[in-house]
Amino acid sequence: MEYIKSKDIYLLMRDLLKLVHPRLMEHGSKVAYMVYLMLRERGRFEEFELADIVMLCTMHDIGAYMTEKGKISDMLRYESRDSMAHSIYGYLFFKYLSPVPDLAKVIMYHHMDYEQLQKVDYEYKQIAAYINIAEKMDIYSTSMGSQFDIYMFEKMAGTSLSPDGLELFYLVEGKYSIFDNIKSGEYKRDLHSIAEYMIFSNEDKKKFLEMLMYCLGFRSKSSVVDNVTTVCVCEDIAQEMALPDAERETLYYGALIHDIGMLAIPQEIIEAPRKLEPEEIQLLRTHVEIGEKVLSDKMKREVVNIGMAHHERCDGSGYPRRLKDVQMNMPQCILQVADVVTALVNPRSYRPDLPKEKVISILNEEVAKNRLKKQVVRTFVNSYDRIMKRVRTESAEIMKMYETLNMQYELISKKYKI
Ligand SMILES: [Fe+2]
Ligand SMILES: [Fe+2]
Ligand SMILES: [Fe+2]
Repeated sequence: MEYIKSKDIYLLMRDLLKLVHPRLMEHGSKVAYMVYLMLRERGRFEEFELADIVMLCTMHDIGAYMTEKGKISDMLRYESRDSMAHSIYGYLFFKYLSPVPDLAKVIMYHHMDYEQLQKVDYEYKQIAAYINIAEKMDIYSTSMGSQFDIYMFEKMAGTSLSPDGLELFYLVEGKYSIFDNIKSGEYKRDLHSIAEYMIFSNEDKKKFLEMLMYCLGFRSKSSVVDNVTTVCVCEDIAQEMALPDAERETLYYGALIHDIGMLAIPQEIIEAPRKLEPEEIQLLRTHVEIGEKVLSDKMKREVVNIGMAHHERCDGSGYPRRLKDVQMNMPQCILQVADVVTALVNPRSYRPDLPKEKVISILNEEVAKNRLKKQVVRTFVNSYDRIMKRVRTESAEIMKMYETLNMQYELISKKYKI
């Protein structure tokens, strides 16, 4: 079954990352639009290949989420002076976590001087050179307003920027009035039509969705470990309960995306080492509606319904819809249990992880209050040790992957002396 269309994967990635920093994704979209027009004019790639490139270009600065954190608004600085850090991180992110690792180096080289890039042996280096031009055009046109002149980079031709790329840019600007289209918002419609050509295999879509889940790690690695825990617990309970394959699959996707709205919640609240104030709790709870808003027109309804019911409770005391037992299906009830289990077996900012006996007694209390479904809790408790063993193995693997990523980051940073 198709849980999400290829085009919607692109829109979903873009819209969810927009939640973290709207300006950064807007910049990504504009750069993608410019590079698309340039490459199409060159005619080297097929339309479906261009679609992959558009996806990559939209996220070319994804590393800035990690390396800039609070300073992300200072785009001019990291895009002009300290450009290596986010390029390296973005490269590693795409190399290890995306379904298009072959294109990852485009991100690595997107700020490299043309002279240096000439010496690099890489199939797609031209794309990197074009991004370098497009992003300068976007950043300077945005910051300089009417003072901006597209020929202002002419003196950099042949040294910092590709002379052929600049010529091409002038040509497509003359043909398609890029800046007017950006100003009127028309370019967004064009990007939508390009997205129609996107064809991702089911495996690739799954990888992109998992990559989105890793984006939660921009905030804290522990959110990623939490997500993996929830997915594992769901899968194992569903297997023990012998749910039909189709339901197991929808549950998997529902679990994967259930907390994606957390990308919009400020880090201070997510990681507060104290009890939250009532208004902070209110804000935190909006993550469900935020996630639903972004997902609802893009993913299959069954999946969204599962994901967005993870804070509901059988007695109707949950949120946001106060659904009751009879209004919910088994996958929803499984995710609710898995989400509670995750909060108990993993450490929180205000307390360490809890021992098995305590976890089981809390779960039983929740069943006694008719908040969690008895059958699901019983299934989990009966296989506690086996399920937790798998959770620990998978979590350790994720942490190891982040370690590798950080180690590689250090190594490459040293090489480039940053
Ligand atoms: Fe950049
Ligand atoms: Fe950029
Ligand atoms: Fe949640």
